[in-house]
Amino acid sequence: MKLLDVEIAENKMIANGIYLLSFESEYLANAFKPGNFVNILVEKDSIYPLLRRPFSISFVKENKVFIGYKVVGRGTQILSQKKKGDTINVLGPLGNSFLVDRFDGKVAVVGGGVGIFPLLSLCHELKKARNEVDVFLGFRSRSDLFFVEEFKEVSDNLFISTDDGSIGYKGNAVEVFKTKIEEENYKVAFSCGPKPMLSALKSLNLTFKCYISLEEKMACGIGACLCCSIKGKDGNMLHVCSDGPVFDIMEVEI
Ligand code: FES
Repeated sequence: MKLLDVEIAENKMIANGIYLLSFESEYLANAFKPGNFVNILVEKDSIYPLLRRPFSISFVKENKVFIGYKVVGRGTQILSQKKKGDTINVLGPLGNSFLVDRFDGKVAVVGGGVGIFPLLSLCHELKKARNEVDVFLGFRSRSDLFFVEEFKEVSDNLFISTDDGSIGYKGNAVEVFKTKIEEENYKVAFSCGPKPMLSALKSLNLTFKCYISLEEKMACGIGACLCCSIKGKDGNMLHVCSDGPVFDIMEVEI
């Protein structure tokens, strides 16, 4: 993990309020594993927003690091106004990563909304490890879609769903995934998305392993402030930033 000042290469809107930011960092591009995140100090010389904001790394290409985010508050609003050439301070890579292996059977990847960002590099690595990968992506509506072409390239089958049915299946990604479980005989699943989606996934009581990446409010990003604590299955306290963000779905309370 390093603290780096990096220059923004690009920061563009790719869907309704959703941005993709990139910067060059040979160190981060080499150290990154799917699931890792960075903590960005959005405005270095201002006291507001004081805290760093966590962002999962979506993918890396050569020495360029790509981070997707949604504008949800003042910090991300300021970030969305940053231009090519502006400098931001980045701490990372942080957190653990998804287990990537050659699995003995099909793999399912289930993502919702901005939760799909960390799943892109995961799919890339799963394909590189010669897995057959089914991807289920859920969005609110047609105008919220992003990364569809990118996921097509790193999956064997891609299932799109929208809450309003304006494109793809009507419903969420877990509902579509559920319809495929019996016929496909998956060996493992990976997921990231909003809490209700992860909770629905957990309630399926899958007979195979399922790993999820959790998104929590964070401050330090290194296990020192308790800001991101969640409960483990035995009532024990876990830090999303340092014990996660990737967990076995059965090991955490959602
Ligand atoms: Fe400080 Fe996790 S963000 S302990």
